Parts: sequence; structure tokens; C-alpha cells
Amino acid sequence: MDIVNENIVSYIHSLEKDDIFLGKLEKYAKEENVPIIRKETASFLKTFLKVLKPKNILELGSAIGYSAILMGFNTDEDTKIYTIENYEKRIPVAKENIKKAGFENKIFLLEGDAMEKMQGLESTFNNPADIDKKFDFVFIDAAKGSYKEYFLEAEKMLGKNGVIICDNVLQNGDVAVSRFAVERRDRTIHSRMREFLYEIKNNESYETSIVPIGDGLSISVRLA
Ligand SMILES: C[S@@+](CC[C@H](N)C(=O)[O-])C[C@H]1O[C@@H](n2cnc3c(N)ncnc32)[C@H](O)[C@@H]1O
Repeated sequence: MDIVNENIVSYIHSLEKDDIFLGKLEKYAKEENVPIIRKETASFLKTFLKVLKPKNILELGSAIGYSAILMGFNTDEDTKIYTIENYEKRIPVAKENIKKAGFENKIFLLEGDAMEKMQGLESTFNNPADIDKKFDFVFIDAAKGSYKEYFLEAEKMLGKNGVIICDNVLQNGDVAVSRFAVERRDRTIHSRMREFLYEIKNNESYETSIVPIGDGLSISVRLA
């Protein structure tokens, strides 16, 4: 289910310019059932990156590299993007796409579990000897039931005024309805996502907005 009226989404899509490289990845993702950010989310991300101008980006959930490559095309040459993926079948595809895009020195794919790999990054991005080296943007798009844990770990490596965006927070609209109205198998994720959204909205160290675009984004800016 689209969380925004289908006609409006189609209209917004019709205004988007096609990108040949990313278009091929979108086609592959569709054919192979690989979940990637939606077109309107991609468009939002592009504009947002032009405003934020991040130098160090962390992404959780690379899939085939689509959003990482989109970020590669829309950031400065010296921006570094670390992206984590644990699904063996997708890793070689993502690597090949990153290579084809010419981003081998800009996008670094870390193979393995998001939490474990994040902990490994702490020696570089939460290092008392280099307190200025932090992530200025974190894009969370991996296991939907682990957003709270991801956020807390990412926070350790997030710089002042850094931004954390999480995708799929509205879960096709399910998050907005009672847990009894969602399929039994989706209830755990429903509760976990609600709890996560409540906590980030009430965390005074961040200004957070929940934006009904694509499958829902939470955008949290660190205030100090
Ligand atoms: C929605 S897809 C990411 C899409 C990608 N960001 C894009 O838009 O192109 C989520 C990805 O997270 C990966 N993932 C799920 N749990 C993970 C974990 N614990 N550690 C690393 N990756 C994980 C999945 O294998 C999947 O490829």
C-alpha cells in the first residue's frame, strides 16, 4: 500500500528525469525483487544531500548498491560512503555496480552484520584521538526491527548537527493503525517501530520529523 495517494505518487514519478545508470539498477531490482528506496525517496535524498553536503556517510543496508551509488553521484568528490550488507547473494552485485559507477575509492562496502561492522568503525569514527572525524549523515535501511539499536550505535559516531535518516518507518501505513489491525506475524515489528518512533520524537538531543514520503522517513538532526 502506498502511504500517499497513488495518483499523486505516479504524478511525482512522471516528473522525474531518468538516469541511465541508476535506471538500469532500478530495472534489475524490480526484476529480481530487491527492495530499494522508492523513486520519490531517491529524489528527496538527492536534494537533501545538496543541502547537507556530508563528507562521511554511513549506510546500513546496501542491497545492490542503488542508494549508495545515488549518494555517490550527489556528493562531493572527496565524500566517503561506508555501506554495510550481510546478504551474500547481493554483495557481489553491489560491488560490481559500485565498480561500474567508478566509485571504488568513494564507496566502501563492508560485508557482514550491520551492528558488528558499525562497532568495527568506532575506532575510526569515535576515536578520542580524532574527535572531529565523525559521520555527518547516517542512512538506516537494514533490519527494520533493529532501528533502535542501530540508532544508538550510530549516535556514537555522529557529529554535531549530524543527521540520521531511517527508511520504511511507516511500514506501508501499518505503523499508524492498532497492532490488532496488522497481521499477527507483523506485530513485533509494528511494536518495535512504534517504540522507536516514540523515542526519537521524544529525544531532546534531536529534532526529528517523520515524513510520509516513499514508505516513510524519519529525519533526525542532532542538536548538540
Ligand atoms: C531495503 S534493502 C536496502 C536498500 C538500499 N538501501 C537501496 O535503497 O538501494 C535492506 C538491506 O539490508 C540488508 N540487511 C538486513 N539485515 C541486515 C543486517 N543485520 N546487517 C546488514 N545488512 C542487513 C538486507 O539484506 C537488504 O539487502
